[in-house]
Amino acid sequence: MNIPFAIPMIGQEERDAVREVLDGSILVHGPRATIFEQAFAEFTGAPHAVSVSSCTAGMHLIYFAMGYGPGDEVIVPAQTHVATAHAVELTGAKPVFVDSELETGNIDISKIEAAISSRTRAIVVVHYLGVPVDMRQVLAIAKRHNLFVLEDCALSLGAKVDGVHTGLQGDAGVFSFYPVKHITTAEGGMVILRDGELAKQLKLKKAFGVDRTHGERKVPGMYDVITLGFNYRMSEIHAAIGIEQVKKLPTFLTKRAENHQVLSEYLESTDGLRVLPAPMGRLTSCHYCLAIILDDGFASKRAQIMDLLTTQGIGSSVYYPQPVPHMSYYRNKYGYDDTQFPNAARLSRQSIALPVGPHLGSRDMKRIAGGIKKIMEEMTCSMSMS
Ligand SMILES: Cc1ncc(COP(=O)(O)O)c(C=O)c1O
Repeated sequence: MNIPFAIPMIGQEERDAVREVLDGSILVHGPRATIFEQAFAEFTGAPHAVSVSSCTAGMHLIYFAMGYGPGDEVIVPAQTHVATAHAVELTGAKPVFVDSELETGNIDISKIEAAISSRTRAIVVVHYLGVPVDMRQVLAIAKRHNLFVLEDCALSLGAKVDGVHTGLQGDAGVFSFYPVKHITTAEGGMVILRDGELAKQLKLKKAFGVDRTHGERKVPGMYDVITLGFNYRMSEIHAAIGIEQVKKLPTFLTKRAENHQVLSEYLESTDGLRVLPAPMGRLTSCHYCLAIILDDGFASKRAQIMDLLTTQGIGSSVYYPQPVPHMSYYRNKYGYDDTQFPNAARLSRQSIALPVGPHLGSRDMKRIAGGIKKIMEEMTCSMSMS
């Protein structure tokens, strides 16, 4: 594969930083997690940042801290990674799914209110593929119904709404540093928020509910536990990588934007597909990938198209393989069927995610576009003959 969908952009700086941690004696509870939090807060403009072991852990931690449990409901977009729903489900609360807009893949805001009940406690939005949800409208609904708003920012590092970084319009935003994301720490996540009291609770509950950090302990090993909590901390090794990655983030984002623009232009008038828009105005995308949506006539050909791309050395991916409520666990538990969430189902079935990451340049974009165009032309030709 000479054009992989994504590769972690690990340089000598990250290697040196990890070696420095390994050469020392502090692998957890050291200064690096805090330095990474400060750097991330500075980049996003967040008043508070709390490092966690993954985005899933961060979302679960927030719902846990909010005290959600059996009998509560959270509005969740159908078109997302299962983590968005699992984080709700793990508390005993019920995810109530809402279909997507076809145009952007984001939650269909016009359908949120119909899904709200007296049991609803929160709305979680996902900035699908780095294209921000219009938070003004979501916040207006949340205000009317007195709901907490969580932003799943796993794919939206660098994306902004009205000039404000995603994650800061709602009550909290959670990012992922899994290897294919905008920056990586191998595994890892970060919560950003404005509420200092909630940030304090998250710090407590991500570390067993222990009342003092290592630095605050007068006698080593002596502490009290004042609440229930997990071990959702980030290690110094992961944080060391994160510190170096944040420094490179502006360059990564510029490269992604350039690649996306070049590839969009090449693909503009390709028959049989449309390009999912990546706006740069009030809503500013951070170009996680370039998603093409195949016309209905090509829906059954998606796997073949992706295979043909692979044979040309071009990586691609699918976001996401099925709407979450169509996955066996949710289907079996809540009785959802294929007729529900038709827009999310169509996007799951007919989209292909193409690479625009900083590991690639404009020559790669030209090759990807050339590959797609050729495949679509040949397929159109053979379909019209049969
Ligand atoms: C929208 C979304 N939310 C959450 C996650 C889970 O992130 P993590 O692996 O850091 O828990 C992903 C993973 O790709 C995702 O795409």
